[in-house]
Amino acid sequence: MYKNNIEEILDEIDLDTTPPLEEPMRQYYFLKKARKMVSEQSRKLGRPLCASVQTFGCQMNARDSEKLIGILHEIGYQQSESENADFVIYNTCTVRENANQRVYGRLGVLNNYKKKNPHMMIALCGCMMQEPEVVEKLKKSYRFVDLIFGTHNIYKFAELIVNRFESNHQIIDIWKDTNQIVEDLPSERKYAFKSGVNIMFGCNNFCSYCIVPYVRGRERSRNPKDIIREIEKLVADGVVEVMLLGQNVNSYGKNLDEPMTFAQLLREVEKIEGLERIRFMTSHPKDLSDELIEVMRDSKKICNHLHLPLQSGSSRILKIMNRKYTKEQYLELVEKIRAAVPDISITTDIIVGFPGETEEDFEETLDVVRKVRYDSAFTFIYSKRTGTPAAKMDNQVPEEVVKKRFDRLLAEVQQISKEQAKKVEGQVLPVLVEEINEQDPSLLTGRLTNNLLVHFKGEKELIGTIVDVHLKECKGFYYMGEICERQEGKELWHN
Ligand code: SAH
Ligand code: SF4
Ligand code: F3S
Repeated sequence: MYKNNIEEILDEIDLDTTPPLEEPMRQYYFLKKARKMVSEQSRKLGRPLCASVQTFGCQMNARDSEKLIGILHEIGYQQSESENADFVIYNTCTVRENANQRVYGRLGVLNNYKKKNPHMMIALCGCMMQEPEVVEKLKKSYRFVDLIFGTHNIYKFAELIVNRFESNHQIIDIWKDTNQIVEDLPSERKYAFKSGVNIMFGCNNFCSYCIVPYVRGRERSRNPKDIIREIEKLVADGVVEVMLLGQNVNSYGKNLDEPMTFAQLLREVEKIEGLERIRFMTSHPKDLSDELIEVMRDSKKICNHLHLPLQSGSSRILKIMNRKYTKEQYLELVEKIRAAVPDISITTDIIVGFPGETEEDFEETLDVVRKVRYDSAFTFIYSKRTGTPAAKMDNQVPEEVVKKRFDRLLAEVQQISKEQAKKVEGQVLPVLVEEINEQDPSLLTGRLTNNLLVHFKGEKELIGTIVDVHLKECKGFYYMGEICERQEGKELWHN
């Protein structure tokens, strides 16, 4: 449906006229122009051109990559797994230093490919490109990179590709920030049956360790009508699960012309017929409202899972982190949520070794971990990010100390997750079938609403559907199960 729409629009565009100024029409013009250029090059080479998009970082970046792939597909590139391709795009992350290092390492390999295939184009985009020092370094020492752009202008990808085809220079287009949201551009989903949906962009929270607000700009919410329309289209195209994405979904809608809360948006999304599951990420504890808890309690579609980043269990450290909640407030919030949704799975993010973290502070973190009993937790070693307030703090914790704390935390977290995972053993629960099992092709792999994976025997035709599975045995962090016949009149559905 959507595809035809784009084709119809492209058919009517006359490339002999100047490109329109307004979006998204301008990008449609460049889609058509890029398509022509790709097809000419492909004719010269006597084969189709292929492109490979590599994604680093979070779900936001994964979603952005789907938009890049959508554009590449539209202009005639075939998708390739191999990085020895005609066009390689790295969508980068800079949340921690090691993410950056990996990109530089892999660029060396790409340069070797490029020496053998001079037609090859290399593009870098994403969060790392929003850092001026990175771009300086690329300009100086990585001249073989063809195209560099940032997080605010990925919608211009087709236009940038055309610019690159038309010139022989490295093209750099980075915007510091934007208040623009361009809708209705192509995007190609990784999964047929589930999709991320941006509901907002940017972040205003400035947690003192975090670089995201600097590289993703200020908070902008999408218009609820555009979000609903996008989800309706996705559902019409076979999607049963959406993940609503934002750095802090709980502050959704505050700066809309007609303000709206995240809970209100969820109520609207719930009404979409054919949509079975709703997830969202990330919820900042400081903005999690009673209204949201109510909506989660009453919803039939919101998954039984809440990601609620703690970062630290020490109120003293939380204050310096600028998180705007205390240990006690966080614990109260968890209690309130559990009272409303008793078997909800709660997961978190924790940073170890924030500047000035003492053994006592760390013990507070362990205490919260033991009290909340997270179903799973992502644990990170604090990474100093240039430009953030924490980077200037002079009481950085020595590496050996951090490493030891990290190992202690990980052991605790894993032990608890294992015990938590067992909670639903023996039950029959709905599972969204996602793929054929990687190790054993006679098995399917699916996901419970609490985000745990289940492996069970079944036919691949079930992929993308929701089936009831008997969770026979918990194997630590996943289940082995057996598919159940749906029994007439018996309600097995459970959120
Ligand atoms: N907006 C989300 C987090 C996005 S970044 C939120 O507020 O929860 C994902 C995670 O990376 C964060 O939750 C944090 O735990 C971690 N992180 C961010 N900056 C970091 C840093 N400088 N060092 C280590 N971990 C960091
Ligand atoms: Fe970073 Fe904090 Fe914003 Fe999350 S809420 S992206 S941790 S600044
Ligand atoms: Fe990384 Fe950017 Fe996400 S820095 S974590 S990809 S918002």
